[in-house]
Amino acid sequence: MSALNIIRDKIGDVQIDAAMVLGSGLSSLADALTDVTQFAYTDLEGFPGFGQKNNGVSGHGSDLLIGKMGAKSVAILTGREHYYEHGNAAAIRAALETIHALGAKTLLLTNSAGSLDERVQPGELMMLSDHINYAGMNPLIGEAGDKRFVNLVDAYDPELRIKARQIASNLGFSLNEGVYLWYSGPSFETVAEIRMAIGMGAHSVGMSTAPEVIIARMLGLKVWACSGITNMGAGMKHEEISHAQTKRVAKICAEKFEKLIPSLMEAL
Ligand code: HPA
Repeated sequence: MSALNIIRDKIGDVQIDAAMVLGSGLSSLADALTDVTQFAYTDLEGFPGFGQKNNGVSGHGSDLLIGKMGAKSVAILTGREHYYEHGNAAAIRAALETIHALGAKTLLLTNSAGSLDERVQPGELMMLSDHINYAGMNPLIGEAGDKRFVNLVDAYDPELRIKARQIASNLGFSLNEGVYLWYSGPSFETVAEIRMAIGMGAHSVGMSTAPEVIIARMLGLKVWACSGITNMGAGMKHEEISHAQTKRVAKICAEKFEKLIPSLMEAL
């Protein structure tokens, strides 16, 4: 049975309003969901790890949760497949097509990233205003037809960014924004690469999100994306960058996301 049919079998003809992808260490954001129906990616054809016993990156989930956040029907993808795992930049495509087919109009993407902007320190959030596809890989390579020529101007919805900034300000914290540079990973960047990224106009660096945005925009989804800053870029600070640190500091960011996301959902 297709992923869509498996989901429809359980949830009926509910229309999803929005979907969200959770980044490293941000699994607590799923706690805001009520009336949850849970599906393992391993049971959903086309989803990351379909048919496998276990998959993924530590700190990332591998379930699709469908439930309510306030008055909105929301689908949460608790983890993503990164390009660095199997070299597939389009690994999340079927999942995004499925949430789109379930009715989602908006996609909220979260991730962990390194800051290249001294004004934005670990533990803070940085919205994406744009991205640089430095990984050089595009999830639409091989796609046929004219829809592959996706316009990425204002890919990160300007109105949603304004709303999010207002909500954060009401909650008492400032929400920064900047240009995210997608680096393939899984190694972190060299100090020279970070200097180059700054020179190219990037404000943050991470290993995900940009390919998802490209697919989402092709599908016509409105996109909002935000990083939890877990570290400064390599060489910017005397600290050892590691995945353990990413997961630890992401928990601090998660507390801010937990306040912001339900209000942002409400405002959609
Ligand atoms: N670089 C790339 N990806 C990341 C980083 C980083 O410094 N921190 C968290 N994810």
